[in-house]
Amino acid sequence: SVCEVLRGKRVVITAGPTYEEIDPVRFIGNHSTGLMGIEIADALSRAGAQVDLVLGPSHLKPQCSNVIVHSVKSALEMLDEAEKYFESADIAIMSAAVADYRPKLVSSEKIKREKTTEMSIELVANPDIAATLGQKKSAGQFVVGFALETAKNAVEEAKRKIVSKNLDAIVLNTLADEGAGFGGTTNKVTIIEKNGVQHPYPLKSKRQVAEDLVSFIAETLK
Ligand code: C5P
Repeated sequence: SVCEVLRGKRVVITAGPTYEEIDPVRFIGNHSTGLMGIEIADALSRAGAQVDLVLGPSHLKPQCSNVIVHSVKSALEMLDEAEKYFESADIAIMSAAVADYRPKLVSSEKIKREKTTEMSIELVANPDIAATLGQKKSAGQFVVGFALETAKNAVEEAKRKIVSKNLDAIVLNTLADEGAGFGGTTNKVTIIEKNGVQHPYPLKSKRQVAEDLVSFIAETLK
């Protein structure tokens, strides 16, 4: 059963947005709520796994008190924390909506309004947390990513990400699907294995999507 496979397994999960500081009062962020990753953390915990949840700024929290929450703000902090728990993890699930870029310089003072009509902030690329862990993965570690696609060739894009990030599986959600992706409480996903096998699921609550993912992982690892 799911519990026999997952009992005592160590899991690290990233979830939520990241906030990239501009100055003491401003940041670059996104609309991720963290709900999908939090539901996965709870579902794995119910199945007996030991879960470290590396969570970006979110008002939500897991219901299972067994889930250990490590709160972070930025992508760099999230990478640091995720790497800490990945070393001893059996499974990693990368569900965070990490900011792709951060301001190159963080102003220590609030940036003043100028009388110009335009201003710009120089950005530098953040590390790819999933790819970093994927490259470090040792035999026996299982790494799952997420892909939020808007394009027609969503499956091809998701498969490309499995390869480039060295993942074992990816959870594809397409924004074109009503009720899927960011913000809401429902999601419609296709889990794609690294061998290309696709598992499409109907629209469900994020809680049920999390249960499906946990069953898929248990089935794959058994
Ligand atoms: O490349 P893309 O951002 O579409 O990939 C999405 C997957 O990669 C998700 O699993 C996300 O959590 C992860 N990711 C990450 N660090 C980044 C960007 C994406 O872990 N800087």
